[in-house]
Amino acid sequence: MTPDLERVSNFLPSKIDNFLWEKRLGISTRGIVDTFPEVTVNYNYMTLSYRDNIRILKAVNLTRDDVFVDIGCGKGRMLCCSALCDVREAIGIEQSPELCAIARSNAARLRGRKAPITIIQSRAQEFDYREGTVFYLYNPFDQSVLGEVLDRLRSSLDEARRPIRIAYARPDHEDTLEACSWLEKTDCWLSGRGTTAVGVSFWKSRLPVPVHSGGMSRTR
Ligand SMILES: C[S@@+](CC[C@H](N)C(=O)[O-])C[C@H]1O[C@@H](n2cnc3c(N)ncnc32)[C@H](O)[C@@H]1O
Repeated sequence: MTPDLERVSNFLPSKIDNFLWEKRLGISTRGIVDTFPEVTVNYNYMTLSYRDNIRILKAVNLTRDDVFVDIGCGKGRMLCCSALCDVREAIGIEQSPELCAIARSNAARLRGRKAPITIIQSRAQEFDYREGTVFYLYNPFDQSVLGEVLDRLRSSLDEARRPIRIAYARPDHEDTLEACSWLEKTDCWLSGRGTTAVGVSFWKSRLPVPVHSGGMSRTR
């Protein structure tokens, strides 16, 4: 990401800034999509501003060895932003076939891409997380699914030993992460301003990884 563009971006109203980013990158990720109209508590597709996404990406200190995984990537805004960084790969997991198709089309059109992008249509609770090192969640699901996803993430550390980091935006179910003794909270802040401000919390795996004791992972 070029520092000049970021400097200008900081002074623009968010809507205009988002519009300009989309034009610049050649992608289209705006709007809200009702992904599960049949359920009462819905976890729709929506995305944070480019400004917030970039701030989050900076906070996780991506390196060339990292594989960034957006769990519930929707139309792929955060995924495309991560692929502007010098990472090994950017992977998006998305349950909705329609949103996967949009994310793939955005990935193909993205200007300035530095890393390969892969979009996988899958339920997050069934995905194999061994490849990933940095995981992003923008409040994609409820506590029960989040628990299942964290269990899979934890198991993936046994299968492929590596330190991982997690950024959780709009962390409505943060207590689910707090219950994981294999995770340590490293930071949290409010992203954005006024009524649109969104909390983001940051986590990393504890080393050495505690022994898995089934269900929610805990140390013995
Ligand atoms: C709030 S949007 C986040 C979009 C994206 N991460 C971003 O920041 O640009 C949450 C996404 O998670 C997806 N999702 C919800 N439950 C899921 C599940 N169990 N497995 C995979 N994707 C899921 C939704 O379809 C939606 O696109």
